[in-house]
Amino acid sequence: MSDVIELGLRNDVYRRPLATALDRLGLREGWRCVDVGAGGGDVTVALAEIVGHDGRVYAVDSDPAARDEVAKAAAAHAQVIAITQAGEDLQLPEPVDLAFCRFLLMHVDDPVLVLRRMGQAVRPGGWVVAQEPVTSAGRVAGRPLTMPDAPDPDVGALLPGLVRQAGLDIVDAWAEAPAGAGPGPVREYLEALTEVDPGDDPVVLPPLVTVVARRPPG
Ligand SMILES: C[S@@+](CC[C@H](N)C(=O)[O-])C[C@H]1O[C@@H](n2cnc3c(N)ncnc32)[C@H](O)[C@@H]1O
Repeated sequence: MSDVIELGLRNDVYRRPLATALDRLGLREGWRCVDVGAGGGDVTVALAEIVGHDGRVYAVDSDPAARDEVAKAAAAHAQVIAITQAGEDLQLPEPVDLAFCRFLLMHVDDPVLVLRRMGQAVRPGGWVVAQEPVTSAGRVAGRPLTMPDAPDPDVGALLPGLVRQAGLDIVDAWAEAPAGAGPGPVREYLEALTEVDPGDDPVVLPPLVTVVARRPPG
């Protein structure tokens, strides 16, 4: 076996950092939000469940296939609007209260530009939240994980600095990593994405760095 294990990312095992972030910023019914790089819509649905039918969630992704996936995932949430658009060109029909991205900036060439666009998409004083991994800090039996196809699989390690460069005020920042050994969701997640069964080896999935920030008021 090689020294590194290739990894794709995204699953329910990362719901806890998502819930922590939404709790931290006090997401409430009626908020208008955008989920940038929405993909299959896990974050979109989590946002929609909280903002309810008085709120609205724009699910933005550069891949047109994501539109169908989000539409399917969010079928019970009428307030979800899927838009095919690059984060670098983010433009919404109205200012929103919250711009969120997860596992997106690792895939883009200019994360500061995307964060800046997210900042411009929210109202003055509105929230910008980014959750990005430090892939190489993940471990299986002590060996680091890697994801060679992404432009920056370790972008989480730089995230607080990137958010500041984008002109946003940091309110809070932290890192969380799901971990486990033997049967359970962490092992299943890793196996589904790498096609390598870690068996009973200890697994620490890539920590997700969360930065909660605000657009400066006025
Ligand atoms: C790993 S998935 C993450 C999906 C979702 N955010 C989540 O956490 O479950 C990354 C998504 O970002 C999208 N993406 C990549 N580059 C993008 C860009 N420049 N602008 C918008 N979306 C982009 C991809 O199409 C993909 O759906």
